[in-house]
Amino acid sequence: MERMKTVVLGAGGLVAQRLQQRLLHHPWFSLAAVAGSRRFSGQSLDEVPWVLQEPRPALPGFKVEDIEDAKTIEELVNNGVRIAFSALPTEEARRLEPLWAAQGIAVFSNASAYRRDPRVPLVVPELNPDALADHSPEPLRHACATNCTLLPLVLPLAALHERFGVESYTMRSEQGLSGGGQPYLEAALAAGKVDPTIPGEAEKTEAELRHVMAWEGAADVKCARVLRRDGHHVFVTVQTREPVHPETLRACLEAWSGDERCRTLPSAPAKPLMLVDRIDPEAHLFADGVHLGPYADPSTDLKAGMAVVVGNLACTGPHEVRFEAYSHNTLRGAAGGVVYLAELARAMDVLEG
Ligand SMILES: NC(=O)c1ccc[n+]([C@@H]2O[C@H](COP(=O)([O-])OP(=O)(O)OC[C@H]3O[C@@H](n4cnc5c(N)ncnc54)[C@H](OP(=O)(O)O)[C@@H]3O)[C@@H](O)[C@H]2O)c1
Repeated sequence: MERMKTVVLGAGGLVAQRLQQRLLHHPWFSLAAVAGSRRFSGQSLDEVPWVLQEPRPALPGFKVEDIEDAKTIEELVNNGVRIAFSALPTEEARRLEPLWAAQGIAVFSNASAYRRDPRVPLVVPELNPDALADHSPEPLRHACATNCTLLPLVLPLAALHERFGVESYTMRSEQGLSGGGQPYLEAALAAGKVDPTIPGEAEKTEAELRHVMAWEGAADVKCARVLRRDGHHVFVTVQTREPVHPETLRACLEAWSGDERCRTLPSAPAKPLMLVDRIDPEAHLFADGVHLGPYADPSTDLKAGMAVVVGNLACTGPHEVRFEAYSHNTLRGAAGGVVYLAELARAMDVLEG
C-alpha cells in the first residue's frame, strides 16, 4: 500500500511532536510536511526544540511551513499531501482547520473546536466508526478525536454497557500535567505544585461520552489535575440495569474488543482493555494490549500507550461496579488516537482517492 502524504499542524507542541514521532515510520502515512505558527515557520524542523522525553527521532530536516500563509495549503495539495493532523489550540483550530478541509485535505483534529459540530464526526474507533461514513456522499474532509480524559472512562464503560446496561455513573479523575500543554507542564514542574481545577473538562467529558456511546443517563463527573507528567487516571462507580457477578464482570472486560474493523489497524492495541489488580501510573503508561510497559518507543511501536489499563475492579452491589482505569493522554488520548482514526477512515475507504 502506498503511504499517503500527511502534514502535521503544529511544530513544537507536545501533541504536534507526538504526531511527528509516530508518523516517521508509519506504514500507511508519511510525514511530508509540518506547518507551524510564526514562532517556528521558516526554520528547519531540526531547529525546533524537542519537548518529549524520548530521544528525538531522525525527523526530516525540511523547512517548517507557515500555517498562516494561504499559499501553504495550495503548495502542499500540489505536492500530493492528502491528510492534515491538527494539534492546534482551540481558537486557531476553529479558524484554520476549515481552510485545509476546503482545499481537499482531510483534517483529523485533536482540538475541541469542532467536536460538537454536527457536520464533523467525533469518533472513538472501537465505538462509533460508522460516524466517519455518515457525513455526506462527499469524501470525509474533517473528523475529530475526543478529549483525552474520555478514553480511560469510555472504553470500559462501553464494554459494561454492552453486557449489563449502564444506568448511571460517577467519575473523578487525576490527570497528568501534559494534558495542559507544554508551557503548563513546564510551569507546574518548575513550581512543584499545581492548581487542580480544569475549567470545562468535566462538562466536555460528560457530553462527549453521551455522543460517542449514544447513551442517556445520569452522570456525575469531576476532573482534577495532579502533579504527574503524563497519564490520566479515572475512578469510576457504575450502576447497571442487569445484575453483575464478579466472574461475568471480569470476563466481560477481558473479552471486549470493540468494533472489529479496528482490530487490524496499525495503531490498534492488541486488546483495548488490559486488566490488572492495581494500576501503577509510572509502570503502565505504555500499555499496548499485551505488555503493560514500563517503556516503549512510540516512534517505532505504534501500539505502545494505546491500551487502557483497568484495575481495582469489583462488584460493590448487585447492580454496582467499581473500577479504576488509566491511559496515556498524549498517545491514546491525542496523537495516537487521531492517527488511529485516520487509519480507520482509510480502511473504510471514506477518504478521497
Ligand atoms: N496534551 C494533551 O494531552 C492533549 C490531549 C487531547 C487533545 N489535546 C489538544 O491538542 C491541541 C494541542 O495541545 P498540546 O498539548 O500540544 O499543546 P502545547 O504543547 O501547548 O502546543 C501548542 C500547539 O499549538 C500551536 N500553536 C500555538 N499558537 C498557535 C498559533 N497562534 N497559530 C498556530 N498554531 C499555534 C503550536 O504550534 P507551534 O509549535 O508551531 O508554535 C503547538 O504545536 C490542543 O487543542 C489540545 O486541547 C491535547
